[in-house]
Amino acid sequence: MNKNVRKAVIAGNWKMNKTRPEAKELIEAIKPLAENAGCEVVVCVPFTNLETAVNAVKGTNIHVGAQNCHFEKSGAFTGEISADMLVELGVEYVILGHSERRQYFGETDETVNKRLKAALAAGLKPIVCVGELLWERECGITEEVLGKQCKLDFFGISPEDMRKTVIAYEPVWAIGTGRTATADQAQEACKYIRDVIASIFGADVAEAVTVQYGGSMNAKNAAELLSKVDVDGGLIGGASLKAPDFGEIIKAASV
Ligand code: 13P
Repeated sequence: MNKNVRKAVIAGNWKMNKTRPEAKELIEAIKPLAENAGCEVVVCVPFTNLETAVNAVKGTNIHVGAQNCHFEKSGAFTGEISADMLVELGVEYVILGHSERRQYFGETDETVNKRLKAALAAGLKPIVCVGELLWERECGITEEVLGKQCKLDFFGISPEDMRKTVIAYEPVWAIGTGRTATADQAQEACKYIRDVIASIFGADVAEAVTVQYGGSMNAKNAAELLSKVDVDGGLIGGASLKAPDFGEIIKAASV
């Protein structure tokens, strides 16, 4: 990461894990490990844990995020949660367009774009996930895929709002597989994403925007990934559920 211009964001994506007591216990364990962090620390917890998490992090430097929000303000959308509902709870961040939402729940670039606009309008800090499938990488179209996702997901966003948006590069083949992208692959993709952002929003916005890496990041490989100039943090799944491992990643992002 380039610490002169950007602050690393280390965000845990807990996915569909932890009951409320378990969530409280995990946050209590993370607290001392995040105390002197030289990076932004976020925990993105299931909807049912949001209130517990918001209360648990009071007075600390840990921020709370959700894992999705709907694009309408209210209405007949059974099972959905609006951005305003999250803000009212004290939530600051929201993950949008995660590959698991795209893969299992019909999320498209169009709905990611709509959700992003709603999240920004409500004052949330979005973490928008992009990334190629293994098949797409093998076919040599990683850049086309990332370029298309960025152009569609960030369509119609103001440069000011783009600056507030975190991008998570998550190659789908590296998620939950234990198969991490090499630091060079992560750097190459994060740099490409930054170039696309520069072509749409200008070089100054691209330099300011946080581009995380996500996909089997863990206590062992975090330092090498984060040593790359365009890798500004991580979106961490499995390893964020173990406080010591998450703590090591925070440490690696703080040097
Ligand atoms: P893992 O770290 O478990 O591979 O998950 C990555 C991810 O999907 C974070 O959003």
